[in-house]
Amino acid sequence: MIKKNVNIAVIGLGQVGNYLLNELNTKKKDIELKTGKSIKIVAISAKNKNKKRKFKINKSIFFNNPLDILKNKSIDVLFEVIGQSDGISKKIVETAIKNKIHVITPNKALISKHGDYLSRLAEMYKVNLEFEASVAGGIPILRTIKEGLATNKLNKVYGILNGTCNYILSEMEKSKDSFLNVLKKAQNLGYAEPGNPKLDLNGYDAFAKVRILSSLAFNNKISKKKCLMEGIENVEYKDIEIASQLNFKIKLLGITEIINGKLFERVHPALVKKDSYIGNVNGVMNAVIVEGVPVGESVLQGEGAGPSATSSALMSDLLSILRGNIKFPFGLPSNKRKNPIPYNEKNSSNSLYLRLEVKDKPGVLSEITTLLSKNKISIQRVIQTPYNKKKLASIVIITHKALEFRSQNLISSLKKNKNVVKKPVLIRLF
Ligand SMILES: NC(=O)c1ccc[n+]([C@@H]2O[C@H](COP(=O)([O-])OP(=O)(O)OC[C@H]3O[C@@H](n4cnc5c(N)ncnc54)[C@H](OP(=O)(O)O)[C@@H]3O)[C@@H](O)[C@H]2O)c1
Repeated sequence: MIKKNVNIAVIGLGQVGNYLLNELNTKKKDIELKTGKSIKIVAISAKNKNKKRKFKINKSIFFNNPLDILKNKSIDVLFEVIGQSDGISKKIVETAIKNKIHVITPNKALISKHGDYLSRLAEMYKVNLEFEASVAGGIPILRTIKEGLATNKLNKVYGILNGTCNYILSEMEKSKDSFLNVLKKAQNLGYAEPGNPKLDLNGYDAFAKVRILSSLAFNNKISKKKCLMEGIENVEYKDIEIASQLNFKIKLLGITEIINGKLFERVHPALVKKDSYIGNVNGVMNAVIVEGVPVGESVLQGEGAGPSATSSALMSDLLSILRGNIKFPFGLPSNKRKNPIPYNEKNSSNSLYLRLEVKDKPGVLSEITTLLSKNKISIQRVIQTPYNKKKLASIVIITHKALEFRSQNLISSLKKNKNVVKKPVLIRLF
């Protein structure tokens, strides 16, 4: 039972931590009204005490070394808002749990890597480890799976899990601009990290979220196997334009599903129908779709990132703890969570969008269709556009469903073909 007066520590006062601190300071009455508990922020920490921050901090409770906070046994709830997958973030969370302190974190890198170990530890020390904000920002998807859909048998969870990529793809379509120009725009607007946006763009961020979603949805331990992960760095405006002419949009999807009892996780750009639900989720929005029995299909949409949406999820974790909702971090006891059996991605099948830049001369199209046929991939549609001046042509092919290993074999052969002048573009249809 959590006591009436609750002492809180916030470690990490960056974009999210600083916003959260302000929320905690301004929502004390509301929290008391809803939980009967009175919160007090007794310790904060960041790298630099004197850094100028959007919301003023109380320097008298600032600790230069965050681990010193944990020696103060009067902390009841700790927010870890630094964001490393290991190092200081792991040390803080580990030490807090061992000191019987409830932990709340938006740190998907940490949870997707060490979530199994940390949840075991939390169960052992009978404290909460909450990480609602680690997936899809303000959308309460983890709580929905753990509580709202608790007895459903889920078989698939997918969606748009990275707001930065969704903004870039939507904006490329709207402004007809290149990937690099739109990335710069996203960085200026604060939607993409100014220094190193790689982890958003190469699919890793969405992949970490998929791992957490899989574990919760299917009651598995976090998978350690490599998963199919492709980002949006190679998507050109040209492909968005052609996809649009074919009545599709390009979206970066995170997908996890159970196929014949095996776990299939993947992150890749996909062509989705323009009139589909997911095709109409634009800008920085995230959306998650859950399929299960008996619930059918549930859809959640909202802001997937940013300090405000993330803080909203962090606050919901706090209220859950204050209400005494002590529970297993992944919804069931750690020793009941099984190791997932990985699905062999080579056996998956998708229709494909292929764009090939080729020499414009007789026989090239027939050479390409022969390669497709050798790989047992049948064609649904072909569009050939010559660039008269350059003696080059663009061939776009939409295929019927093809097995992944055959698609990869086809791409290898196309790369070696001397009439194909640029790396072939392959985007799967969803
Ligand atoms: N930004 C988002 O929209 C968003 C959305 C969802 C989840 N998240 C997650 O939220 C977490 C924080 O993200 P953020 O965007 O707020 O990052 P951030 O702006 O880079 O903030 C990181 C904070 O950690 C502090 N810090 C770094 N090393 C430290 C150390 N050794 N000891 C104490 N403090 C240290 C920094 O101190 P200084 O300020 O003094 O440099 C800074 O305050 C990450 O796990 C991220 O994945 C963020």
